[in-house]
Parts: sequence; structure tokens; C-alpha cells
Amino acid sequence: MPSPDPIQSQIDKLRQTLRHHEHLYYVLDSPSITDGEYDALVHELQALEAAHPDLITPDSPTQRVGGSPREGFVKARHSSPMLSLDNALNEEELRAFDQRVQGLLPNESYQYVAELKLDGLSLAVQYRGGQLTRAVTRGDGQVGEDVTQNARTIRSIPLQVVSEPPGDTVWEVRGEVVLNRRSFERANTERDAEGLPRFANPRNAAAGALRVLDPKITAARQLEYFSYFLLNAEGQPALDHHSAVLKELQRRGFKVHTAYRECADVEALIEFCREWEAKRDALPFEIDGVVIKVDSVDQQKRLGWTAKAPRWAIAFKFAARQERTRVLDIQVSVGRTGALTPTAYLEPVGIGGVTVSRATLHNEDEIGRLDVQIGDLVLVERAGDVIPKVVRVLEQAPDRRPFVMPRTCPECGEEVVRVEGESASRCINTNCPARLKESVLHFSARGVMDIDGLGEVLVNQLVDRGLVANVADLYQLTLDQLTSLDRMGQKSAEKLLANINDSRQQPLPRILNGLGIPFVGERTAQFLADAFGDLDKIASASEADLQTAEEVGPKIAQSITQFFAKPHNQDLVERLRAAGFKFTCEIRKKAVGLLTGLTFVLTGTLPTLTREEAAKLIEQAGGKVAGSVSKKTSYVVAGAEAGSKLDKATSLGIPVLNEEALQDLLRTGVPRAAEEGNG
Ligand code: IVH
Repeated sequence: MPSPDPIQSQIDKLRQTLRHHEHLYYVLDSPSITDGEYDALVHELQALEAAHPDLITPDSPTQRVGGSPREGFVKARHSSPMLSLDNALNEEELRAFDQRVQGLLPNESYQYVAELKLDGLSLAVQYRGGQLTRAVTRGDGQVGEDVTQNARTIRSIPLQVVSEPPGDTVWEVRGEVVLNRRSFERANTERDAEGLPRFANPRNAAAGALRVLDPKITAARQLEYFSYFLLNAEGQPALDHHSAVLKELQRRGFKVHTAYRECADVEALIEFCREWEAKRDALPFEIDGVVIKVDSVDQQKRLGWTAKAPRWAIAFKFAARQERTRVLDIQVSVGRTGALTPTAYLEPVGIGGVTVSRATLHNEDEIGRLDVQIGDLVLVERAGDVIPKVVRVLEQAPDRRPFVMPRTCPECGEEVVRVEGESASRCINTNCPARLKESVLHFSARGVMDIDGLGEVLVNQLVDRGLVANVADLYQLTLDQLTSLDRMGQKSAEKLLANINDSRQQPLPRILNGLGIPFVGERTAQFLADAFGDLDKIASASEADLQTAEEVGPKIAQSITQFFAKPHNQDLVERLRAAGFKFTCEIRKKAVGLLTGLTFVLTGTLPTLTREEAAKLIEQAGGKVAGSVSKKTSYVVAGAEAGSKLDKATSLGIPVLNEEALQDLLRTGVPRAAEEGNG
């Protein structure tokens, strides 16, 4: 027997380790190592794979985002129909369901399993020999769309299941793809920035992310997958009890929402439903009810199906958290970026135990989409911690009045402008007191500078009394100044001062986020810190340089350079430096390999690699791929029908490689002599 290749076993070991940590992080929500340690392992594997591309396998943890954007989706038939469920809208209907089950199973004992009804979209994922081979959306229940490339980017869907006995056994998992509220909010903020209409709910956003043609976009959305069925090759339940399926799914490494409960009778079901209806807001994602299934598969079979739904299961739907009410007025408020956000002031209405008297309308485009005017009767929805929103207009008032975006800022009277391609109108006065208050609040918020005790009431006073004109002023506040404020005792003032002091220790990503640069939130701030490790470097970087950071495109880059070009922002940075902030952090290493330090531009059609595949190989070897040719480009890789980029490369004297020369470079780190012709 040949001795095992040491590189191969090193790679195998790394992959095993990474799978273990992915499972801990994404499935069990209990990581045992830090993100940095995890990244370091990923980079180690990437570097090894880049040096040995022949050892890359599709189930490697580095290969989740692969493949190129596609033309469209291929239809695929389900192994067995994916039907929907009948609904029970109240306790009475749930009891009626139980009566029916009892009538059809006379003199038998049976039990139920109650699970949360996650508000997402269902997805069937097939495995062959333990490898993920296919993922198909529900579609019409018989035929769905093959979204395998996109599903592979969802970290709670294992690419490989080791416990599977060897051989070609086929089995299938069915479950729900969901997006948590935070990611949903972020998706909508991004849509606003791109001038696109908002997603109405997390389900639509999840569906949108799963059905895009480019898997990179799916990956960026951070979808989660909760599984609830395990089927054999024939599309039939793989085990004889549903409760056993839920345990087996977990054993195989799938994420199962552990809030399910085995219930002996309808009273226990009702208790479970009540309990979760009350607790739904505490979950990070939306649920819209409880799914109830008869546990025994044998009994399920005998209960059978109607034309559209099983008789052995039902969905208990929670009361919709929507109410009708009237729009009394629409007013704008000014945010820290100067964006004017219209808010609907409503006739107060109780929705699921909370009185709602305001709902956000986000921006003018959204008002246009809803066609809502003052006086209209509207449907308002409250969903978890998402701010209440207007769902639609139910009845236009005869004397309805349209909302008009003010031309001047309601707070400071300065001009309001709407930049082309943006959905927000903004107050252009950077010293607008409303903007200032919002920016101080953002700066001190939890997750940013964490200055406990610095809330709205206090910030209003500090700004109104001229004690704080920008966030750096916080670090010059004295105990006397603080105790002079309304409702501020000696003790609280001392505490606040200590908290302000402590915030000087916050790391670079938080400082960056705290500055309030438009489009630079928590995530982008982290990417920038990872890439540059130094605020001064970020402040002086060109737009092109900034775009080398992950997820930073032209728009964000421009926003950053514009921010740091303004003298008052430069002054702010200097004052924060003087206050003792540390502007540097460790740079998180990107893949280091033969191509580290080199920048490539790809153009035209290569003979065997797609452009995305070529980009990936370059990046895995530590190289950078840029969108346009500049003096900083190291190589242009050109294929058939290369256009203006090739011309530009030639005029700038940048070496041009064909695919073969690129492959050589990837293998050896040395380009062979420039080729005649390309493609
Ligand atoms: S069982 C035939 N279990 O709700 C069985 N569905 O209204 C059908 N859903 O299409 C599915 N959580 O998209 C099941 N724990 C759960 C669920 C669940 C959410 C969705 C699923 C289904 C719809 C039925």
C-alpha cells in the first residue's frame, strides 16, 4: 500500500477540524474557538489548496461559494410531493383536528410532536453517499427549482455527512430556509442604499436571496436552514417516528429547532402553542405558528392525505399582528446621516398587546409604492422587534392629502437634497442639531462605544446646551458640567464619566462604525479594519485601495474618501486621537500564497475556466482581482473577445496572460514569457 500523502492528510485533518467548528458555530450556536482562530484555519487550508489545486474537492469547507452566476434555474421534480398544511386558526379548530385524528384511529393511543412554524421557505436537500448533491425549492410542490449552488453557501446545511455508511445511498432532508431579523433589516438598508424597493418581510428576503443567480449574493445574506424531515430515496420517511427523525437529523449534523415538544394530547398542544405565541418576539427570527404532526409514521400512513394536505398534521397559526387604523399625519425625522425618514402618525391601535401609534415609511419611494396619503385607512403590522410598518392602504380617504418631502430641514432649516440613485433625501447641514443628536446616540450605542447611561434625554440636553458639538466633546465633559444637567445626581454623573472614559479602549472596528460614515456599519467597519488595520491608512486610502477590503464597492469607497476629505471630520479624528483612542488593530491575514501582493484583471472568455473560477484560484493563492485596469494592475488575464481592458493593458504596458500562462503562474509563482495572442 502506498503511504498516504502527508499533504493530503494535513488537508483532510484541517477539513475535519473546520467541519467540526462549522457545526459548533452554525448548527449548535456554541462555538469553541474565536472567529479569528477559525479564520486562521480557513486560511491555512486555502493556502494548502492553492498550492495543490488538484487536491480541492467540492465538499471542502473552502468550496461553499463556488460556480459562476447562472442564466436561470433548472426545474427539478421532487422525490415525493412537497405539500402544504391545513391551518387551525384557533383552539377550537385545533380540537376539531384532534377529534378527526381520534375518529380515524379508533381505540389507539397516539402522540403528537409540536414544532415551531418558521416563517421562511421550504427546501429539499438531497445527499448521495453522504455528499450534498441537489437542493430544490418547493415550487408547485411537484416540481421546484434547482438552487444547489446557492444552498451550498448556507452554513447550516452540511456539504458532507460523515456518519453516512459508504456506498451510494440516497436520502433527503426537508426544512425551512430563514433569515433572522437582523439580517433582514440589513438587507433592507442595503436595498435603500441601492435605491431598490424594500423586502416586505424576512421570508421574501430569504426567497430573494435563495433565488438569485449569483451564489455570492446568497452567501452574503447569511441564511439559516432548520430541518424537519428525513426521507429515503423513495421520498418516504426514513424512520418510524417523527420524533426519532428530529433526533437523527441532529445526529447527522443538521440544525433542528430544539424547541419542539412531544405532546400526549390536545391540551398539551394548546399549552405549547400559547407558550410560543407569547414568546415569539424573543426568537431571533419570525415564526408564524406551530406545526403539529402525529408522531408515528405508521399512523401517519393510515391517516393519509387529502388532495392538498396531510390528515396527520396541521399548522396552528398565530393571530396576525396586523390591525386597521388611520394615518393622521406623515412627518419626517432627521437621522445621523441627515436622511429624512417619513413616519406615519397613526390613530393609536393595540396590536398583540402593544399600542402602536407610529409606523415607519422609510423613504419617498416606499410611500410611492404603498400609495399612502394622510387620512387613508391602512393595515399596520408589528413583527418582532422590527419597527411597525404600513402593509397596505385599505381605503383611500376622500379628502386624502399627499405627503410632500420638505425642501428644508425641519430641524435646522437648511436645504434638503436627494442625490440621484438614492432613496433618501438628506439635510446637507453637517451641524444640524438633529443629526448631531443622532450621531452622538449612535456613537454611544451598545455594540458601538457602549457608553452606558448616555441616552436620548441626556444627549438632547448636552447638544441643546452647547456642551457637545461633536462626539469628541464627550471626552472633555467634566463632573461639574454633568451634575448641572437636569435629573443628574453626583453618583450617576460619576458613573457616566467612568463609562465615557472606558470607551476609549474600544477597538478600531467600533471606532470606525462610531464615526457614522454613510454606508459604513458594523460589518463594513470590521472588513475595513481587517484589511487596513489602521484608521490613518483608511483615511488616506484612495477609492481603489479601499475597494480591496471585503464587500467594499465604489459607492462605499467614495463615501469614505468624501468623509475623510472634510476638514471637520479630520479635526474630529485628531481630537479622538488626542482623547487617547487606539487607531490600530491587527490585520487579519488574507490567504497568503504565491500570488500575494499581485493584482489581476480578468477580461474575455477563457478556454476552460469561467471568470469566477479563475478569480477564485487567484484569490486562493493570495492574489487580488480588480474590476478595472490601472497602473497598479500586475497582470491582465485575457481570453477570447477581450475588449477595452486589454487595450488599456497594452497601452499601459501591463503584461497580459492567457489561461495557460495563468495556470503556470498559479503553479510556480513565475509567469512564463508573454504569449503571442490570447485565448
Ligand atoms: S411540515 C406536509 N414543519 O410551513 C408537511 N412545515 O404551511 C409540510 N414550515 O410548506 C411541512 N416550519 O414551508 C413543516 N416545522 C415545520 C415547519 C413547516 C415551517 C412551513 C413549510 C410548509 C408550510 C406549511
